[in-house]
Amino acid sequence: MEEKPIIDKKQEAISFLKNRSDSEIAAIMNDAKTLMTYYRCAIHEVETKFRVLEEEFSLSHERNPIEGIKSRLKSFDSIREKLERRNLPLTLESIEKNLNDVAGIRVVCSFVDDIYLLADCLVRQDDVKLIEKKDYIKSPKPNGYRSLHLIVEIPIFLCNEKKIVRVEVQLRTIAMESWARLEHRMRYKKSVDEKLLSQTADALLECAEISNKLDIKMQNIRNIIEGD
Ligand code: GTP
Ligand code: MG
Repeated sequence: MEEKPIIDKKQEAISFLKNRSDSEIAAIMNDAKTLMTYYRCAIHEVETKFRVLEEEFSLSHERNPIEGIKSRLKSFDSIREKLERRNLPLTLESIEKNLNDVAGIRVVCSFVDDIYLLADCLVRQDDVKLIEKKDYIKSPKPNGYRSLHLIVEIPIFLCNEKKIVRVEVQLRTIAMESWARLEHRMRYKKSVDEKLLSQTADALLECAEISNKLDIKMQNIRNIIEGD
């Protein structure tokens, strides 16, 4: 009789679990499910924190600093790829210890100042611990990428325990978001050859500079209108 795989549909999960016995797979899958649930809960927590700030801001300043919030849980395939790339063990402990971006939240803001305001409001909260801050707005990446990245730890409260979970928060303006999305899409286009990609790098950097100027101009207009 043909042996039935425990997980037959989830191709990416199979590759994560290759070369393991069925009982090992069952145990790992159970723990992995629990771990992913923690990350999902942490996403809810951080997202709620931003929603609360949004509410408060709408009330007191009569404007909304947040254009949109997106969240994502890293797939098993991306997790495996990243651990392998960094020569790290492929275990759940290793995921927790070494990966900061299993839970990711992206907050798209109206203006550059709102990014710093929201980031500041988040990290000042009692239960939020800032682990790392990368300011690619003040120091853009060589390709022109801009965003503010925070790695934070937050507690999630379960029935009988408190779990500390890491979340990657990316804060960007609409202009930064549209540039990053296009750049990302083009970078991963398999059909585009290397030569063409390097030719477009200069054009992309120019677009990033234009996008930066747009953000500065929009911020200045807002400052004038609001009398800041
Ligand atoms: P990763 O291995 O990519 O996580 O790098 P890292 O741990 O050094 O983190 P970094 O803060 O540099 O980047 C984390 C995330 O920011 C990426 O997963 C992307 O979502 C985004 N990012 C960083 N650099 C770029 C870029 O050049 N272009 C785009 N489109 N996104 C970027
Ligand atoms: Mg990352």
